[in-house]
Amino acid sequence: MEVKTSLLDNMIGVGDMVLLEPLSEDSFLENLKKRFDHNEIYTYIGSVVISLNPYRSLPIYTPDKVEEYRNRNFYELSPHIYALADEAYRSLRDQDKDQCILITGESGAGKTEASKLVMSYVAAVCGKGQEVNKVKEQLLQSNPVLEAFGNAKTVRNDNSSRFGKYMDIEFDFKGDPLGGVISNYLLEKSRVVKQPRGERNFHIFYQLLSGASDDMLKKLKLERDFSKYNYLSLDSATVSGLDDAANFRTVRNAMQIVGFMEDEMQSVLELVAAVLKLGNLDFKPESRCNGMDESRVKDKNDLKEMCELLGIEQSVLERAFSYRTVEAKMEKVSTTLNVAQAYYARDALAKNLYSRLFSWLVTRINESIRAQAKTRHKVMGVLDIYGFEIFEDNSFEQFIINYCNEKLQQIFIELTLREEQEEYVREGIEWTNIEYFNNAVICDLIENNQNGILAMLDEECLRPGTVTDETFLDKLNTICAEHQHFESRLNKNSKFLNDHSLPHNCFRIQHYAGKVLYRVEGFVDKNNDLLYRDLSQAMYKANHSLIKQLFPEGNPAKVNLKRPPTAGFQFRASVGTLMGNLQTKNPNYIRCIKPNDKKAAHIFTDSLVRHQVRYLGLMENVRVRRAGYAFRQAYEPCLERYKMLCKNTWPHWKGPARQGVEVLMTDLQVPAEEFAYGRSKIFIRNPRTLFFLEEKRKQCLEDLATLIQKIYRGWKCRSHFLLLKKSEIVVAAWYRRYAQQKKYQKIKHSTTVVQSYTRGWQARKLLRELKYQKKCEEAVTTIAAFWHGTQARRELRRLKEEARRKHAVAVIWAYWQGLKVRREYRKFFRANAGRKIYNFTIQRIMQKYFLGLKSNLPSMSPIDKSWPARPYSFLEGVHAELRRIFHLWRCKKYRSQFTEEKKAVYEEKLEASELFKDKKALYPSSVSQTFKGDYLEMVKNPKYQKLSSAIDEKILLADVVNKINRANGKSSPRLFLLTKKSVILADQKTGQVKTSLPLPDLSSVSTSTQSDGFFALKLKEVRRKWFEVYLFF
Ligand SMILES: Nc1ncnc2c1ncn2[C@@H]1O[C@H](COP(=O)(O)OP(=O)(O)OP(=O)(O)O)[C@@H](O)[C@H]1O
Ligand SMILES: [Mg+2]
Repeated sequence: MEVKTSLLDNMIGVGDMVLLEPLSEDSFLENLKKRFDHNEIYTYIGSVVISLNPYRSLPIYTPDKVEEYRNRNFYELSPHIYALADEAYRSLRDQDKDQCILITGESGAGKTEASKLVMSYVAAVCGKGQEVNKVKEQLLQSNPVLEAFGNAKTVRNDNSSRFGKYMDIEFDFKGDPLGGVISNYLLEKSRVVKQPRGERNFHIFYQLLSGASDDMLKKLKLERDFSKYNYLSLDSATVSGLDDAANFRTVRNAMQIVGFMEDEMQSVLELVAAVLKLGNLDFKPESRCNGMDESRVKDKNDLKEMCELLGIEQSVLERAFSYRTVEAKMEKVSTTLNVAQAYYARDALAKNLYSRLFSWLVTRINESIRAQAKTRHKVMGVLDIYGFEIFEDNSFEQFIINYCNEKLQQIFIELTLREEQEEYVREGIEWTNIEYFNNAVICDLIENNQNGILAMLDEECLRPGTVTDETFLDKLNTICAEHQHFESRLNKNSKFLNDHSLPHNCFRIQHYAGKVLYRVEGFVDKNNDLLYRDLSQAMYKANHSLIKQLFPEGNPAKVNLKRPPTAGFQFRASVGTLMGNLQTKNPNYIRCIKPNDKKAAHIFTDSLVRHQVRYLGLMENVRVRRAGYAFRQAYEPCLERYKMLCKNTWPHWKGPARQGVEVLMTDLQVPAEEFAYGRSKIFIRNPRTLFFLEEKRKQCLEDLATLIQKIYRGWKCRSHFLLLKKSEIVVAAWYRRYAQQKKYQKIKHSTTVVQSYTRGWQARKLLRELKYQKKCEEAVTTIAAFWHGTQARRELRRLKEEARRKHAVAVIWAYWQGLKVRREYRKFFRANAGRKIYNFTIQRIMQKYFLGLKSNLPSMSPIDKSWPARPYSFLEGVHAELRRIFHLWRCKKYRSQFTEEKKAVYEEKLEASELFKDKKALYPSSVSQTFKGDYLEMVKNPKYQKLSSAIDEKILLADVVNKINRANGKSSPRLFLLTKKSVILADQKTGQVKTSLPLPDLSSVSTSTQSDGFFALKLKEVRRKWFEVYLFF
């Protein structure tokens, strides 16, 4: 549910000055101060926003804030510039009303910042899309460009706008921006040539010198040093917090975004450089024969460089600083310029050059940002114009600026009243006349076509004869003497004759915002704004496209003898157009106030603010707003806000809102003269009534809050109680369940125990019975078994006895028979029987022996030494022989499996064994290794190819050995090669043969008995030198 808020909620002081009670200047200031101290820099007067410059960045312009104020009613949230911007944008978009936002205030009050905030808010809330974003970006980026060329540091403001600016932002029917048009008003061009103490020239000069690259400066014939240029005051050349170099980059970037071409940017900078160069021109007098002094350029270097920059012929420009051609009645007269006139001409040229460049920039930006579509546009104008100025020394510029503010005040009063009146008519409320000060009379004093000050100044400027500022003042004194807002010492009006605060060369005007004393000196000159024709013609001749455009009057083909319009005339005309433009739009006001002169945060200087409140006519504003009805509110929000004050409307009113409000007011007994019912709004005459309602509402809210609190607490306690109760039932139920479960489990357990005991007892009883039964059966069986056993044994004994007897009988019988046979046959077989029996027995024994041996033979491994034991000692010889035969047979079998190669290997092994077995400790470990001979693989290895090809015999052994040097015992690796005829030692790395020993030269080869790889070759006497060679592997 959306929460309806109101400006009246959580107010610090009062958010709308219309509600200030009692209304006085003091209470007004106190309210402003109170809000300012709480960082509330915005306050309303009805729909007008007062903005106090905080001089520090506040966190109130974030994207969240934009969202907060988006599509909310003006009075719904606390005062903010976004509320005004939103209101203006929504009525432009939804009600098709063109808007203008008028931002006024004195220098440094925050007008430019406010205008940028409005633009950025509108940019944030309006439509999106690639094209729209580009337009937005171009509109926003026009600001840095114009600020660089039109703003300067003054004592009042480090970024003071020295021109007036009005920007029309154009939107399509959906509220998407299409483009814009900028109008500029009266640039303070005098600043180009001279700046008051503590102030600077326009930012661009400093930005260019600080930010341009060395290359660019060289192209522009400039040096980085500010002190080299007479037009740049060194007083505040650098401003703290202002980074000129970075700003230069920003400006160039902004120019690119806006649509400036690279060559256009270059031309612009060339002109800026030319102005700086111009300021360095100095003149010296040169006497002429007619006794007149003629000026001459002193040091021509700057002039030369400037002419090169702008493509001007040096002699033409030089002449223009020495002569002046006056055309009168088709006749050209050339007069010389003295040094003072030459300086005047130089400055006039610089001022004109710069101000025309500025106007060209505005036109160029307009070309880029102007809406392309020809359809009807909705327009939002933003006016950021210089505020009312009262200096110690006020001149023509202040006069013009104050005139502009006077006109704005007029339009402000007119439009505020008109709006007020229109609203009354719209709402059907009777219009009561409002007393207010109408400054039309002051505007008339200045702009009246016959006897207005500006008209008289023009008249004076155009008049033939000697014209001075004094003659102008005289004229004013005669014509305006009777005017109630004009004051002069030389006035016929005796009132000011003795007023010493009013010097003779001054006049004073009582503006709506206070009295301002103007010094007439320079009025005529500044109004004339003359540039000698020779100079404009010299400029026109320049070979520089931009300069040519800026001085069209220098075109000799279009010589116009008519004087150009005066500055005052031009300004009056442009202000007239502006006012006409503003009157067609719905105005929205932002009135900026500067809280202190120190540009410091948190300081609220009472007197300064009071002064501004006065001259901005804010009290007047409040009074006008309150003159009829101080407060108005649509019926719905009004009923919504106060419905709790009446039983009939609380909590819901079923009928129309207006009736609800009527019931409410009647019930509250608000006096009838205190309010009026409009068509859609209720109008409350006095803030007191509103505060009465607010107070009642507050009380009621408190009561309601108490009631709500009471009901809430009751509800909370009851809910808590019910919860406890419910919980208690649940807990009890759970507990009971738990207890029952426990009890049941206990009973169940006991039952099981009892049951198990019973079953156990029964089982044991049964078991006992079964066991007894089994025992009985076993006893029977045992007895039976014993019985059967006894029977069987008895039978067995009997049978055995019987068998023994039978055997004994048989043996006896056999012996008896044998005896009988032997006795019988002794006489026949006595000689051979013994031998046969013996042979038969021996035969049987041998048979048994062989069969036993056959099945008991050892394995076929030749190294298996096992052999069955000898069964009979008489077989010893046979047994040993059989063992030997078996072994030989086994070896033969083993040998028969050998291939020829394997055989050769074994023969080698055999030979080696004969040589080394039991003589060399290393021998047993080498037996398992196969002898390769050519360990180096001489033939395959490409490294030894050369060596192997050098040896034409078969290599029997090739390996790497270390040859020990007999002199020092050091070893060196050698390739050891053995052939059938010789031993060869070769270098291991190169493979080069070092030594070749024919085998016959060797007397012996010796090795040690230890487990090393040493061997020595002993040579015969013939090779004495090499008697012994020690080598090892
Ligand atoms: N809303 C703001 N928040 C923070 N700082 C602000 C705000 N408004 C103004 N300022 C500060 O005050 C300075 C002056 O403001 P700004 O240039 O807008 O004054 P101005 O009224 O345009 O003056 P001038 O008439 O000289 O151009 C700004 O440079 C900025 O530092
Ligand atoms: Mg400004």
